[in-house]
Amino acid sequence: TTRIPLMAGNWKMNLNHLEAIAHVQKLAFALADKDYDAVEVAVLPPFVDLRSVQTLVDGDKLKIKYGAQDISAQDSGAYTGEISGPMLSKLKCTYVAVGHSERRQYHAESDELCNAKVKAAFKHGLTPILCVGEGLDIRKAGDQVSYTLNQLDGGLKDVPAEQAESIVIAYEPVWAIGTGEVATPEDAQEVCGAIRGRLAELYSQELADKVRIQYGGSVKASNVAAIMAQPDVDGALVGGAALDADEFVKIVRFRD
Ligand code: G3H
Repeated sequence: TTRIPLMAGNWKMNLNHLEAIAHVQKLAFALADKDYDAVEVAVLPPFVDLRSVQTLVDGDKLKIKYGAQDISAQDSGAYTGEISGPMLSKLKCTYVAVGHSERRQYHAESDELCNAKVKAAFKHGLTPILCVGEGLDIRKAGDQVSYTLNQLDGGLKDVPAEQAESIVIAYEPVWAIGTGEVATPEDAQEVCGAIRGRLAELYSQELADKVRIQYGGSVKASNVAAIMAQPDVDGALVGGAALDADEFVKIVRFRD
């Protein structure tokens, strides 16, 4: 099976809309001189920048994909401050992150809510990037695999195979996010491999072999190649290092 790696820049709550435009233009310029079809590139800007990014990407027929950092489980209604699947699909988003550890931590998102958001994403033609991963206490106790697989089970509950086969899973050990402390390639492989194994149990080996599993947590240009060399790591969800367009381009071109 050939899984095309997905390198996604999660900007989190960074870059204003002018910076966002400049950033995407820089990415487009830096990636245009070369065929980078072998790697899929995506950015996840704040909601308010999605329309600008759409205009740049569509207008210039760029190969850069984009998506949102969150989605409401509801389609519409009295949910002040929320953004719905229909709004995101109207903006031609490809991806949406679901259950990022910062959403789970600061907005108390449960596996049940993440599951509803995964379903909302698929319902509206968006590809969820379901984020899972353990905190430091769990890692210290050696329970990272069971903890992470439990989140995976919760997020995928009652999601049919026709949808699950296109999901992206991001394994992000919380202790490695924004800390500069990257998991070793072996740590990343251990859990990413276990995630693929669970997908095979839940669905089929064929489906599991199709699903892309990203690693996230302090990925930068200097460490991405070693992580990508692991058999079950199919890309990276990059936070801090994706804010610098030059650095992100180096990450995308990890094979160079
Ligand atoms: O979504 C991205 C991850 O949370 C990783 O963030 O690269 O700043 O550690 P980071």
